[in-house]
Amino acid sequence: MTVTAVRSKVILTPQLEVCGGRQLSGELTVSGAKNSALVLMAACLLSRDTIRLRNVPPLTDITAMGEMLSSLGARVVRLGDVLELTGDRINSSAAPYELVNSLRASFFCIGPLLARMGMARVPLPGGCQIGTRPVVEHVKGLKAMGARVTIEHGVVNAVVPGRSHRLKGGRIHLDCPSVGATETLMMAAVLADGETVIDNAAQEPEVVDLAGLLIAMGARVRGAGTPTITVVGVERLHGADYAVIPDRIEAGTFLLAAAITRSALRITPVIPEHLGAVITKLEEAGCRIEHDGIGVTIEAKQIDAVDLRTQPFPGFPTDLQAPFMSLLATARGTSVITENIFENRLQHVAELQRMGAAIRMQGNTAFVEGVARLSGAPVQGTDLRASAAMVLAGLAADGITTVRGLEYLDRGYAFLEDKLNAVGAQISRINAA
Ligand code: EPZ
Repeated sequence: MTVTAVRSKVILTPQLEVCGGRQLSGELTVSGAKNSALVLMAACLLSRDTIRLRNVPPLTDITAMGEMLSSLGARVVRLGDVLELTGDRINSSAAPYELVNSLRASFFCIGPLLARMGMARVPLPGGCQIGTRPVVEHVKGLKAMGARVTIEHGVVNAVVPGRSHRLKGGRIHLDCPSVGATETLMMAAVLADGETVIDNAAQEPEVVDLAGLLIAMGARVRGAGTPTITVVGVERLHGADYAVIPDRIEAGTFLLAAAITRSALRITPVIPEHLGAVITKLEEAGCRIEHDGIGVTIEAKQIDAVDLRTQPFPGFPTDLQAPFMSLLATARGTSVITENIFENRLQHVAELQRMGAAIRMQGNTAFVEGVARLSGAPVQGTDLRASAAMVLAGLAADGITTVRGLEYLDRGYAFLEDKLNAVGAQISRINAA
């Protein structure tokens, strides 16, 4: 690539320019949960009626899921933060490669497609920046429910043998509490013949939200939010009108924005039980946090080092490991952060080091020695949450930080810079796509 081409590529890359050192004040509004809305959308394949989802965040991932469902014959209509999805004309059980490859969550459709159509052809979602993202548990569970599953040329082919093409209830023990596998198998089980028990199920709030929608559609689901979920299959499901829970990861990101700028903010709506581990760690680090029934207020003055180990819910969430590391890079003392969920979710360490963070790596553990001030620099977001972590670091750094990787950021945060600027940040989006 010639120098000119390199220069133009750098100059034209969309990026956020973050001016550091400003205190924040006021109130931040949390949007609907991306990781709930995506799977709730897939549930539309289970009914011929319309499901109406409210509080749906305006994110590129949501748009991509809508395109994926439309390619299968669903009708998807967006009215502000309301999505109306109607599955009366599902005419395909083959999800297109280019749509699944761009959005891992679309693999969830294999469960409802099998339940509805008795067959499904879904490309393997493939890996991403943070790990190989296998779907072994999803496939194992579908087989336990009577599906014949083969994987050829990167495509998962599943079919339910027999005249009825109806899955049958089964007992499934997940080797790991996979969120996606739990959600996929719940959706497969709601129309199956008989009872399905999922042991070692994921307990994330998004799993509980899916159970809430399925029950509103007439499904018989109990135990969501515990390690054992029981589903008794029914003949058909009807439509529903359902509100998506607030995004706990966005809320946690906002709490960290207050902490890293040593500010006081109110963040709403927040369901405290969804953020228990995060709030506990922030209080351990010296923040004062109060819940007022709808939102939380946070006040941060001095931040002390704390140790973090990411775990499945209700443990500390892997999605907030990178944003929390940005905070701890400015804390008093040395923090030990261990990433236990994904095998490659520490790439933001190198970017924080470019900003003067003192971090030493040992396997999946980062030893973060807090420094008085980070210094603004051009940095690259390497995945959705790492991009958010770089914006947070920029808020606290001396000078200007330019953050590239907005193609990741915009997948999970709606209007992040607008929301932060409304409470005193100074962030501008340049070379917007
Ligand atoms: C969901 O991904 C979320 N995505 C992720 O959020 C989140 O980080 C993750 O759960 C963990 O909480 C959505 O909900 C769309 P997993 P998912 O299956 O379902 C291993 C974000 O930033 N595993 O619970 O793909 C896997 O390799 C995204 O919003 C197996 O080993 O996560 C990983 O190490 C990133 N075998 C761990 O489990 C399997 O068959 C957790 O994966 C399946 C998973």
